[in-house]
Amino acid sequence: MAKRTPAQWTRKHLLGLEDLSVGEIRHLLDTAEKFLPYATARKAAPQKLKGRTVLNLFCEDSTRTRTSFTLAAERLGARVIQFHAATSSLSKNETLLDTARNIEAMGLDAIVIRHPERGAPEAVADAVRCAVLNAGDDAHEHPTQALLDFLALRHKFGRLDDLTVGIVGDIRHSRVARSNLYGLAKLGSRAIFVGPPLFLDGLDDLTVPVETSTDLDAVLPECDAVMMLRVQFERHEGVALDLEDYKRGYQLTAKRLARAKKGAIVLHPGPINRGLEITDEVADGPESVILHQVTCGVAVRMAALSLCIGALERERKSAKPSPLTPPLSHKGRGRDKRAARPKGRAAKRGRKR
Ligand code: CP
Repeated sequence: MAKRTPAQWTRKHLLGLEDLSVGEIRHLLDTAEKFLPYATARKAAPQKLKGRTVLNLFCEDSTRTRTSFTLAAERLGARVIQFHAATSSLSKNETLLDTARNIEAMGLDAIVIRHPERGAPEAVADAVRCAVLNAGDDAHEHPTQALLDFLALRHKFGRLDDLTVGIVGDIRHSRVARSNLYGLAKLGSRAIFVGPPLFLDGLDDLTVPVETSTDLDAVLPECDAVMMLRVQFERHEGVALDLEDYKRGYQLTAKRLARAKKGAIVLHPGPINRGLEITDEVADGPESVILHQVTCGVAVRMAALSLCIGALERERKSAKPSPLTPPLSHKGRGRDKRAARPKGRAAKRGRKR
């Protein structure tokens, strides 16, 4: 039988699911599964990141992703620095790359970045030496969100192949839809993008084929899971959306959900526009796994941080020492400690004190 997971994770960056192999996706999910008992802090997690420093470089608002990356890193023993774009020197025209390089110069092991420009995490990854994890860039990728969605799906169905997931709503502006599409295609499942024509526009950037539909009621009977997306009003420059019309065609109501396959579940990455893309009844109903997704997010981010920082540490060990900051050899460090320790009469005096 083919080996399911690679023996060792080799990537120090997690920038998207488009470039990951199915083995790497499974390895991330299997590692996250092991971290799940620690995700709610009921059990103390192994201190795998003790002594490490993680920067949360968020240039866009966030509740779930920032908080869960913070908790994931802290529960593994890392120190987390919160960067707030609005009160930083970005407001004095410092570039993003200068910002990242300057903070890295203070000693960093990982940068978690959310940015409104597509490709910003990749640009930062090219500019620094530490690990870089994409926490969402424009409408491009949100890899840890898709991974936590997969973990929640696997908990319900026990598998990640042969599933049909209807991804419904503001696809055009959604990095979640794109990361889910790339991941589900690799895992052997089917994503169907559903929404009004103006939200199915602008998908030319996709590098895999995608099924689309404007008819949610027709797609629902094929769905094992329905992932509702937030209408992203803040990205709607020039988009004219009739909200009542939208609700009539695409709001997930209990009546509509009854059309989906028996046992179908409801996902939403959050934040939710309650009463717009989804009713309260469905968001809080028995088919909803929305809060379970959030718990899975902590475990996925524990896995992503520990794997990427682990790969960075292996890279650092095999790298030649930098002439600017020569690390002490193991032997040398021992000598330094001995030199600092008082000897003879001075040591005796020290002991008496
Ligand atoms: N799902 C998600 O990315 O939520 P936040 O914007 O609150 O981080």
